[in-house]
Amino acid sequence: MAQDEKAKEPTVTFQAKAGFPSDPKPMEVHAGVGDIKPWDADSWAQFEQMGKPRPRSEAPLKATGQAKYTFDLKLPGMLHGRMIGAEVAAGEILSIDTSKAEALPGVKAVWTADSRVVRFAGQDVAAVAAVSPDVARDAARLVKVTYKERPFAHELRAAMKPDAPLVYDLDKSPAGPNVPRKGNVVGPTGGGRGSRGDAEKGFAEAEVVHEGTYYCPVHTHSPLETHGVVASWEGDQLTVHASTQGIFAVREGIAEALGVDRKNVRVLCEHMGGGFGSKLGPSASGSAFAMVACRLARKAGAPVKLMLDRRQEHLCTGNAPSALMTVKVGAKKDGTITAVHYKSWGSAGVAGGAGTAGPVGALHGKNPNLKVEGYDVYTNAGPAAPLRAPGHSQGAYGIESAVDELADKLGLDPLEVRKKNEASPVRLAQYDIGAREIGWARRNRKAGDPSTGGFAPAKGAKKRGLGMANGNWYVFASESTGAQVKVHRDGSVEVICGYQDIGTGSRTAIAAVGAEELGVETSAITMRIGDTQFPEGPASGGSVTINSVAPAVRLAANQARTKLFELAAPLLGVKPEELDAANGKIFVAKDKTKSVTFKQAAAKMSGETIDCTAKRPKQYETFRGDLAGTQFAEVEVDTETGEVRVVKMVSVNDCGFPANPLTAESQVIGAMIQGASWALLEDRTLDRNVGTMVNPNLEWYKILAPADMFEAKSILTPLANLGNNTSTAGIGEPPIVPTLAVIANAVFNAIGVRVRDLPITPDKVLAALGEAKRRA
Ligand code: MOS
Repeated sequence: MAQDEKAKEPTVTFQAKAGFPSDPKPMEVHAGVGDIKPWDADSWAQFEQMGKPRPRSEAPLKATGQAKYTFDLKLPGMLHGRMIGAEVAAGEILSIDTSKAEALPGVKAVWTADSRVVRFAGQDVAAVAAVSPDVARDAARLVKVTYKERPFAHELRAAMKPDAPLVYDLDKSPAGPNVPRKGNVVGPTGGGRGSRGDAEKGFAEAEVVHEGTYYCPVHTHSPLETHGVVASWEGDQLTVHASTQGIFAVREGIAEALGVDRKNVRVLCEHMGGGFGSKLGPSASGSAFAMVACRLARKAGAPVKLMLDRRQEHLCTGNAPSALMTVKVGAKKDGTITAVHYKSWGSAGVAGGAGTAGPVGALHGKNPNLKVEGYDVYTNAGPAAPLRAPGHSQGAYGIESAVDELADKLGLDPLEVRKKNEASPVRLAQYDIGAREIGWARRNRKAGDPSTGGFAPAKGAKKRGLGMANGNWYVFASESTGAQVKVHRDGSVEVICGYQDIGTGSRTAIAAVGAEELGVETSAITMRIGDTQFPEGPASGGSVTINSVAPAVRLAANQARTKLFELAAPLLGVKPEELDAANGKIFVAKDKTKSVTFKQAAAKMSGETIDCTAKRPKQYETFRGDLAGTQFAEVEVDTETGEVRVVKMVSVNDCGFPANPLTAESQVIGAMIQGASWALLEDRTLDRNVGTMVNPNLEWYKILAPADMFEAKSILTPLANLGNNTSTAGIGEPPIVPTLAVIANAVFNAIGVRVRDLPITPDKVLAALGEAKRRA
């Protein structure tokens, strides 16, 4: 909606207190008509349900294996589907012969793709449905596909070469004819958006300049549960169980692709095993498997379960783009940054959207001069998908490595350089908290020289170091979110919303919001989610879930509370306006001894339920439009083997008011693990000779394992951000933004040489150390 249109919407005005509860600032906020005063800085100390750490309510189900994931579902007469992907990286499909597969006993349906052009290995070619996974696998092998192969570009730097084979003909650029294109390189994308001031002038004012090139490989999402659906038809009614981050997106996409009415499609997701951005769409970024499963089910007249295997998951369900970043930073001798020139090339495979500049504009906010250039490079690889703060981990790795190198060049503490250029009051408050927790004073004053640091003497050839870096994210929300609160005559409460818990424990966080408003225990609320028959919920991406759902739930709960007060008031001989609620009681605000229980009030209702539905009101002005975070790491590097071990990480983050700090912190810890894994191990590698992935499993595509675990500490800095009536904001993405840079900077502090090419594997560490020795 245009800004002026938004301004014309009728609003209500509230005077509230914004910022840290210990340092509240008066602020006027304008909310949509019908909304209520936001929980503000004064609310934090008064909360009884919000902000209290609680184990997720579904934990016992998950721990005992009773929680049913899509992967676990078994329907009567269910068939097993299997996708068949292209075995070549580029070319044309000359023929697909499914006759042998169809003739195999137990095969019930076959599907073949319309497209004959292959642009990546793993692209959808055909699919089968059969009575068992084994028969489906056998049938898949019997599908005979012949190709006319073409040369391909397997990787970012190879694809940038002027003579590289074209992934798309020049007139078939997915970015459209208006974006400049040279070979496989498209851009500048976004027309240099994010630039400010005059970089040339800023560099002229600089007393020292650092320029470095940093590379970050493609990272795959690798969720525990692969993509998949179970599709079943009853007449023209289609039910789809999906492992998804967005049940409504699945419904939309499937209804559109199949040409059926969306009201005839029901999508369910009770529990799901992670997506990290790859499960936001109706199917997957590089495969239409969900629609294929629905078609196979219709054709076979039986339910079809179609889960991708781990290899397919790596090839066609998305990945985080690689990034090659050239970063130039100029500063005064005291560390004041005067200019940044940030140039980035990234590959999202056959797709676009490899931009990484988000953090570059947001961090070092006092720097007046910034020039940003970004390019997408096509490669013959599966299309990228959003991955946990898309592009931001890569971008923060580039800019925060460069600023770290600049600080080293100036002989300054990198933390002091950050403080000097910091524009966010939130991050300024976070720095010392993180520094204290990691023991920042122990860092090697001279990188690689333990005699200048405060670490306990290391054993043998091991060296320790400390690094830090910052991240940013945004306060996004989905304003089409609705929620329903039902209070039953027996006093039981249901909160109902068509969003899905992607593994974050959001049920318990949302329940705390409803419980706080109603004055009941969080555990007394039954959460019903993951069904498109419920009021529409957001797709869980962009860290929007709590910021979208919580305000709708609070508003619906507030309406139910008003109705309960009307029932309780005559029992207490007061007016409804004189009442308040907490701890399962409704009481007279001025005299708490006069009370009835929540249950006593509910028993007075005339019907069976009080049933209230509310839509999320529009987003208010926020105290801060960004989500600030800072991160620290201690690493140990074995200079004989080149192995890097993370000893401890500390992440200090703002997520507004954390509804459930325990599960919020779990997300922060998960982000640190995923980021450390990317920094040290993960690298989606395509074979330069044949173009297929050489490590399409979890044995050769390494991710951080329990034995690699470090001490991970999350510290949340609660903030009354006032962006919605609950002051909540998401935390799923922000804490992975700094992590690649934090690890890289800590490794540098330990050994005094920098690896500018992720992942920081032992061979690269040894090569860097060897190179430094030769130069010394
Ligand atoms: Mo996230 S990458 O928006 O799921």
